[in-house]
Amino acid sequence: MNFRHEVIEKNATLLLVLSLLVVTIGGIVEITPLFYLQNTIEKVEGMRPYTPLELAGRDIYVREGCYVCHSQMIRPFRDEVERYGHYSLAAESMYDHPFQWGSKRTGPDLARVGGKYSDEWHVQHLKAPRSVVPESVMPNYAFLADTPLRTDDIADHLKANAEVGVPYSEEMIDNALADLKAQANPDASGGADLQRRYPKAVIRDFDGDPSRITEMDALVAYLQMLGTLVDFNAYNEEANQR
Ligand code: HEC
Repeated sequence: MNFRHEVIEKNATLLLVLSLLVVTIGGIVEITPLFYLQNTIEKVEGMRPYTPLELAGRDIYVREGCYVCHSQMIRPFRDEVERYGHYSLAAESMYDHPFQWGSKRTGPDLARVGGKYSDEWHVQHLKAPRSVVPESVMPNYAFLADTPLRTDDIADHLKANAEVGVPYSEEMIDNALADLKAQANPDASGGADLQRRYPKAVIRDFDGDPSRITEMDALVAYLQMLGTLVDFNAYNEEANQR
């Protein structure tokens, strides 16, 4: 046995051919089942496409590179679940293009940060992180509160997401701008329509300045939604029955 192995190890071409053979078999075993599965994402109640304002906030999150320091994927380990909450489900990022799992945590995971803090906390923290967490190394994003949100292209953003499979309907695309404005202003009309199209959409003046819609409004709306869509009590009950 040892002798035969020596033959392979001393012949580079043979070693290469046999290595490729082994890797190919391994690959086939791993990949073929995926073609027979109907779906690799388990369906869960509650996931819905992002509202136009949340989507705009998500674009700012991507633009500012928040993913460089923050992950959005809670792994199924006890320390993670105790700190951040239920581990992330595949379905929770099914409308993310591109996904925001991240690969580094200079700051904490944000997959379930929604509802953890008040809007005021987020605004203050984004403007000047060290004013609320003295040891923070997060950069200041004060300019977001002074920058009006660009809204003229929001319908196109929904359309682009629909192209890659997010179930935005014609109605959602046609009303994108109205829905965006309705979510950032509790006094405006259109809130009921927004919540009919996007269940659980939260309507608030997120940045504390009702006179205009800023990038801060959009980003805070996005952060406050993270991890709040799936009802985990229902999900766990269903999982226990299986
Ligand atoms: C250079 C790395 C870095 C970048 C870039 C960064 N952060 Fe942070 N973030 C941190 C660190 C470190 C903390 C923990 C200390 C603190 O709370 O400030 C943090 C904390 C947070 C928290 C509080 C999380 C919690 O559970 O307490 C939120 C929310 C947050 N960041 C959002 C953002 C957003 C949104 C962006 C992009 C606009 C961003 N961060 C960019 C490093 C970063």
